[in-house]
Amino acid sequence: MARSLIRSLRPRPASVPEGEVVVRRYESRDRAQVRHVCHITGYMGEPVDWMWRDVESFADLFTSYYTDAEPQSALVAELDGVVAGYLLGCVDSRRAWNPATIFGRHFVRRGIGFRPGTAGVVWRSFGDVVVDAFRRRLPPVSLYDAHWPAHLHIDLLPHIRGRGVGADLLGRWLHELETTGVAGCYLETLGENHGAIAFFESMGFHRHGRPSSAPGLRSPTGERHTVQLMVQTFGP
Ligand SMILES: CC(C)(COP(=O)(O)OP(=O)(O)OC[C@H]1O[C@@H](n2cnc3c(N)ncnc32)[C@H](O)[C@@H]1OP(=O)(O)O)[C@@H](O)C(=O)NCCC(=O)NCCS
Repeated sequence: MARSLIRSLRPRPASVPEGEVVVRRYESRDRAQVRHVCHITGYMGEPVDWMWRDVESFADLFTSYYTDAEPQSALVAELDGVVAGYLLGCVDSRRAWNPATIFGRHFVRRGIGFRPGTAGVVWRSFGDVVVDAFRRRLPPVSLYDAHWPAHLHIDLLPHIRGRGVGADLLGRWLHELETTGVAGCYLETLGENHGAIAFFESMGFHRHGRPSSAPGLRSPTGERHTVQLMVQTFGP
């Protein structure tokens, strides 16, 4: 009953494009398009520019490790020769670049702490970290767990959502992990991203623990966001 209600509430693309979506392995020529998709889907599938206008630093935070260091674990969904979605994977999360290091580099090189369109979130994040530390509710420093060593990010442009492309991308990634003996996979999504959580649950993930705090992240109306960890293990 609840599941059929979710399905009926689920947004469908306003106009479904005619062409066929091709899912294929990422290639280096896709890099700029992947970074573009990342920025215009960066807030629960919506453009993130109202919160973070600097595309370079945003895309670096969420895509650079995957496109530059582990491209063999990345898949793209292409429509009419244009990348309209991706799954970026990491088989062993201990290898992924630390987001705090990328953040620090952009603080120095791109001045994100002083640049209009990013500075507000940067200083708000520092403030939230202090408040969360005081209340003992800081998010975990590392999410690595031998039961789910791999992780992923997945984002599609609105016009290719709701037609099985996400399930295709994620199904391929999970199959690759399972057949190469990887124990399991995790991901993080905003606790308020109910559509994404339903999607991941339909693909075999379950919520692990309660949502943790997300320093600096607010809705357009100012409410603080949370981050939900979701996991899936393979085998018996
Ligand atoms: C989440 C996302 C990757 C799902 O991909 P998709 O191609 O739209 O999903 P699919 O069509 O493959 O759906 C597969 C199943 O997932 C579930 N599902 C997908 N989207 C859903 C939604 N918004 N609400 C409820 N269930 C949903 C359904 O069970 C669906 O099966 P059905 O088609 O038989 O109903 C995609 O919608 C997206 O990129 N959203 C915006 C960005 C985002 O939130 N990314 C995740 C951030 S961690």
